[in-house]
Amino acid sequence: MIKLVSLLIIAYLLGSIPSGIWIGKLFFHVDIRRHGSKNIGATNTFRVLGPLAGTIVTILDIGKGYLATWIPMQFGISSWYPLIFGVAAVLGHTFSIFDHFKGGKAVATSAGMLMAYNFGFFWIAAAAFTLCIFLTSMVSLGSMLGFVIIVIAAYFTHDTALTILAFVLTIFIFYRHRNNIKKIIHGQENIVPFGLYYWY
Ligand code: G3P
Repeated sequence: MIKLVSLLIIAYLLGSIPSGIWIGKLFFHVDIRRHGSKNIGATNTFRVLGPLAGTIVTILDIGKGYLATWIPMQFGISSWYPLIFGVAAVLGHTFSIFDHFKGGKAVATSAGMLMAYNFGFFWIAAAAFTLCIFLTSMVSLGSMLGFVIIVIAAYFTHDTALTILAFVLTIFIFYRHRNNIKKIIHGQENIVPFGLYYWY
C-alpha cells in the first residue's frame, strides 16, 4: 500500500513540473504564462521562445507522462494499472502544485503515458496529430483529433481499459481546449506555422 501511494505521489509530482515555466524563466527570463496563448505547454513555448525551447519542453512534458507510467511497471505493476499513475501525472500537469494548482492542457503528458503503455497507439495518434498540423498549422486541433483517434483505435482493438480512459481523457482535453475551440470556430486560433501554411 505504501508502495502504491508513494508511486502515486511521485507520478503527481513528476507531472507537476512546469517545464515551460521553468525553462522560460531560467533561460529566457520570460514568463510563458504572459505571452502567446498564455498556456504553459510545448506549443506555446515553440510559439514564444522558439523551436529549441519548444522541443525541450515537448520532450520534458512527454517524459513526465512516460516516466510516471513506466516506473510502476518496474515495480511489478502490470496490465492496465500503470495507466493510473499516468493519470496522476496528467493531473499534476494540469493542476500543478508548483503553479498554484493551474497548468497545461494535458496533451503531451497524456501522450507520454500512452507511449509507455502502448507504443503502437502512440504512433497512430502522432501520425493523425502531425497530418492535422501539416494541413492546418493548428496544434490544438491536431491534439484533439489525436485523442479521438486513440479512442477509436482502442475500441477496435478491444482494449477496454484504454478505451474508457482515452474517452474520459478526450472529454477532459476538449474541456481544457474550450477557448481554442471557440477561436477555431471564429477563425482566430493561434497557429504554429507548419506544412501547407508555407504554400499559401
Ligand atoms: O497542447 C496544447 C495545444 O494543444 C494547444 O496549445 O498554446 O495553441 O493553446 P495552445
